[in-house]
Amino acid sequence: MRRCVCPGSFDPVTNGHLDVIERAGRLYDEVTVAIMINNSKRGMFEVEERAELLREVTEGLGNIVVDSHHGLLVDYCRDHGIPVIVKGLRAVTDFDYELQMAQMNHRLTGVETLFVATSPEHSFLSSSLVKEVATYGGDVSGLVPDAVLRRLATRLGNTAQSTTDPSN
Ligand code: PNS
Repeated sequence: MRRCVCPGSFDPVTNGHLDVIERAGRLYDEVTVAIMINNSKRGMFEVEERAELLREVTEGLGNIVVDSHHGLLVDYCRDHGIPVIVKGLRAVTDFDYELQMAQMNHRLTGVETLFVATSPEHSFLSSSLVKEVATYGGDVSGLVPDAVLRRLATRLGNTAQSTTDPSN
């Protein structure tokens, strides 16, 4: 069975992440979406909540497994027998850091990294920007799955979707 991992913070999952996960799912028999836990970065959502959202929004795809890991990605890959990391590249600004990580990971264990060019409509999209815009009541509908939109609204106590809608 051909397997790969899509790693990230997923705080929260965006439509850009989903695009990459779906495309990885067409290339591989099984895709593990691995939430990498970084203790020094406090997220908006707890890891279990991020995992719940990821499971909910990927359940229709059929070949996606959601997991989390504290430590090096290469250790996770080695322990689970996963030879390939799939990551999205949004723009040249992603490239330097992504290349460094891919080269370091390859040096550590020989794991390969495959880059998928994100769809142009997602090239500006990041979880950080989504959180910032939603925090101040901006419209993030269409940028995250509906389940995430609802969770943001609950968390932030606003609608997270309507303030820039001219019909409001
Ligand atoms: O969604 P993000 O925060 O851009 O994802 C970055 C992530 C989590 C994939 C990256 O920081 C990572 O792989 N972290 C795990 C720790 C690790 O292996 N660090 C060494 C990278 S060479």
